[in-house]
Amino acid sequence: MKDEEYLLKVENLGVSFSQYTQGLKKTRLQVITDLCVELRAGEILAVVGSSGSGKSLLAHAVLGILPENAEETGSIFFEGRKLSQRDKEALRGKEIALIPQSVNFLDPLQKVGDQILSGTGGTSGPGQKRRRRTEQAEALLARYGLEPGVARYFPHQLSGGMARKVLLQTALAADCRAIIADEPTPGLDPDSLAEVLRDFRAAAAEGRGILMITHDINAALQIADRIAIFYAGTTFEIAASSDFAGDGAALRHPYTRALLQALPDRGFTPIPGSQPLPGELPEGCLFCGRCPQQTEECAGRRPMFRDLRGGKVRCIHAT
Ligand SMILES: Nc1ncnc2c1ncn2[C@@H]1O[C@H](COP(=O)(O)OP(=O)(O)O)[C@@H](O)[C@H]1O
Ligand code: SF4
Ligand SMILES: [Mg+2]
Repeated sequence: MKDEEYLLKVENLGVSFSQYTQGLKKTRLQVITDLCVELRAGEILAVVGSSGSGKSLLAHAVLGILPENAEETGSIFFEGRKLSQRDKEALRGKEIALIPQSVNFLDPLQKVGDQILSGTGGTSGPGQKRRRRTEQAEALLARYGLEPGVARYFPHQLSGGMARKVLLQTALAADCRAIIADEPTPGLDPDSLAEVLRDFRAAAAEGRGILMITHDINAALQIADRIAIFYAGTTFEIAASSDFAGDGAALRHPYTRALLQALPDRGFTPIPGSQPLPGELPEGCLFCGRCPQQTEECAGRRPMFRDLRGGKVRCIHAT
């Protein structure tokens, strides 16, 4: 695919944070290295990785909301155009919506109904128009089983589950081309979960692109067209969901295969060791020390991210 055919393309993203050590010496901690992801219009791409693998930072880099002490390298393209910080601010909430991981992202001073419709003009304004828009917000809430009165609540009056539904509706109501949902499903009852997944699929069918971040590989397999596997701040593999069928013989990276084999319904085989922390990354492949296929060569250099059998992989020995 040509670059402009991707809705969103993240190329070799790097994120580091400046930190002060004990002697007040300033150092940089590299937490994301060579992270690559592309999202097509009309697809649901799941980003799967364990806690600390860089999923939320990817979302924050795309939206231009990394903290002040972060330094970003690499390129982020939207519809073929490389984005500056100013472009990201202009696109945020209009072309690219974020469903944040933390419900603290809701504005504490704005009523829920107004926030849901904020991407479409809000519920403020004179008489009849305002009533119509309030009804619109109520109808959106009703889809996830929330009472009409919730539109008039402030965020502190919502339970965690309700707040998550409001965040989802806020993003879906805005007419954005890309939606990034950062762990949107925890705390949802099964009916609401099914509703969310249906809404994502409907949004993708309209030609939007959905990037769904999750640590739950089963949820990803249920809904996504393709899955990007993150590990220690980089991308290890991008594979079609169908590549995970059976024993995962179509998968490309030893870590992805190990993740599949660790699922309860596929043998429950744990992966020995743990993901390395930023600042303690091995010199060569980041999976060194845990990989059953490791050779001497693996410790010498970081593998490139390359095309393989219709997907992508970062492993020297993948064939
Ligand atoms: N403001 C920050 N300062 C220093 N390190 C950070 C900061 N934010 C995130 N990190 C580190 O970056 C890594 C990736 O974080 P994050 O993207 O939140 O992970 P995930 O969402 O996959 O759980 C983690 O190791 C985390 O500790
Ligand atoms: S490069 Fe080597 S250590 Fe890394 S995943 Fe491939 S085989 Fe394993
Ligand atoms: Mg996160």
